[in-house]
This record gives sequence, C-alpha cells and structure tokens, in this order.
Amino acid sequence: MKTANEKSLQCPTVDLSIIEKLLNEYKDARGAVIPILQKVQAEYGYLPEPVLDLIAERLNISASEIAGVATFYAQFHLKPRGQHIIKVCCGTACHVKNAKNLSAKVHEKLKINVNETSEDKLFTFEEVSCLGACGIAPVVVIDEDVHGELSPDKLDSILDKYKKSEA
Ligand code: FES
Repeated sequence: MKTANEKSLQCPTVDLSIIEKLLNEYKDARGAVIPILQKVQAEYGYLPEPVLDLIAERLNISASEIAGVATFYAQFHLKPRGQHIIKVCCGTACHVKNAKNLSAKVHEKLKINVNETSEDKLFTFEEVSCLGACGIAPVVVIDEDVHGELSPDKLDSILDKYKKSEA
C-alpha cells in the first residue's frame, strides 16, 4: 500500500507540508477527526485523498474510518469545488414553481450535472432542500447571494454576470 507521501507525489498539487503543523497539534488525538477535517477543508477547500491518508497514519486509525467520517457529514467535500457554489433549491415550494427548470438551465449553460464542478473550476452545482426563502420561490443561492422568483432566463443572466466578473 502506498503511503500518503507517495500518493502526494502522484498528485503534486497537494502540499502536505501545510498540514504538518496541524497534525502535530492533534498528535494522538484520535477523537479529533472532525475538527482536523474541518481545518483541512478550510485550508484546501476540500479533503484531498493523500491528506486523509496522512491523517489516518498520524492518528493511527484506518483510512476507511477517516473516509467514513468524511463521507457521512455533508459539510465535507472529497473533490475540489468551484470558485462559486450554485445551490438550486428543490424544496416543496420551489419544486411546485418549477425549480427543475432552473437545474436544467445550470446543466445546459455550464455543462455540468448535480455535484459536479465546471472544467474552468468556476462553478459547482448542487441541489439542496429548502433554503428558508419559500416566499420568493423558486430560489437559487450562489455563494452567499439569494436569488428569488427566478426564471431560467433570469438565472442565465445572473450566471453571465458571474462569468464576466471572473473574465
Ligand atoms: S422550498 Fe425553496 S426556499 Fe423553501
């Protein structure tokens, strides 16, 4: 089996030195998996596999145990995410106002499916349950911005603005 360092050599974008200090702080703290994963994600934006392996090695727990925690909690992401996170609400109020057309627009415009990131790493597309803004359904949240009473055309223009601001 390959060590975390060997895997990081195959994936040169993952700099394991960043988390050395963090792991020294939590040395032998087997119960600290969640706070460690939160800090790792804050650092890398997601949980790279070589980093998970390194955590397992240092805490002396199995890689599958770490993977189990990382996949159980929705807050953790195992793949790199885009610069902007698009959340299309699929709760009841949005569903009855054709939120599926908004998902279709995201798919058509950005060529990505749910839980995928665009090739340019600009957008990640997610479908979520009620965002608590049912009064302005259908709703899409992009990063921290709430966009309500959306039509596919309005969403198209909003996505164009994000693209232009990054160009
Ligand atoms: S159902 Fe979409 S905001 Fe509540």
